[in-house]
Amino acid sequence: MKTLVVFYSRSGTTKRVAREVAEALSADVDEVIDKKSRKGILGFLRAGYDATRGKTTEIEFEKDPFDYDLVVIGTPVWNGRVTPAIRTYLLRNREKIKNAAFFCTCAGRLGKCLEQMEKILGKRPVLRKILVRKKLEEGIKELVEGLKALSDPNL
Ligand SMILES: Cc1cc2nc3c(=O)[nH]c(=O)nc-3n(C[C@H](O)[C@H](O)[C@H](O)COP(=O)(O)O)c2cc1C
Repeated sequence: MKTLVVFYSRSGTTKRVAREVAEALSADVDEVIDKKSRKGILGFLRAGYDATRGKTTEIEFEKDPFDYDLVVIGTPVWNGRVTPAIRTYLLRNREKIKNAAFFCTCAGRLGKCLEQMEKILGKRPVLRKILVRKKLEEGIKELVEGLKALSDPNL
C-alpha cells in the first residue's frame, strides 16, 4: 500500500509525529506550509481566531495525494478545531484522496477537530487518532500499530 503522511505543524509536535509515523511505515511525507505567519503572540491569537471562524488560508505542499492508496493527515488542534492549513488542504484535495486516516495532536482538549476533518473531506476516514502532547510516545506507537494493521492481510 502506497502511503503518504501529510501534516501541518506550528511548533513541531505534529511534525515529529508525522516524521516518526512515515519512517515506521516507509511512507512518503509532505509538509503543508501556511503562508500566513503564525509566529509570536499576534500569530497565536490570529491562529485561534482563524480556526474558530473556519477560515481557509494560502498553503503550499508538494506531493499529489492522488498518487497514493492511503493519505494520513495530521493537524494540531486549535481552539477545538482543525487548523486553516489542513482545512484548506482537505478542501483542495478531497476529490483526489482515495482513503484517509486522520490524527490530531493537542494538549488534551480535542473539541470537534476530527469531526470537522471528516465533514470537510466528505467521507469516513479508515482510522482516527488523538495524540495528547504529554503522552506522545504512546500515541505514536498506537497510531503506527493501527496503520500497520490496515494493510495486514492476516487481519
Ligand atoms: C492557537 C492555538 C490554539 C490551541 N487550542 C487548543 C485546544 O483547543 N485544545 C488543545 O488541547 N490544545 C490546543 N492547542 C495546543 C496544540 O494543539 C498542541 O500544542 C499541538 O500539539 C501543537 O502542535 P504543533 O507543535 O505541531 O503546532 C492550541 C495551540 C494553539 C497554537
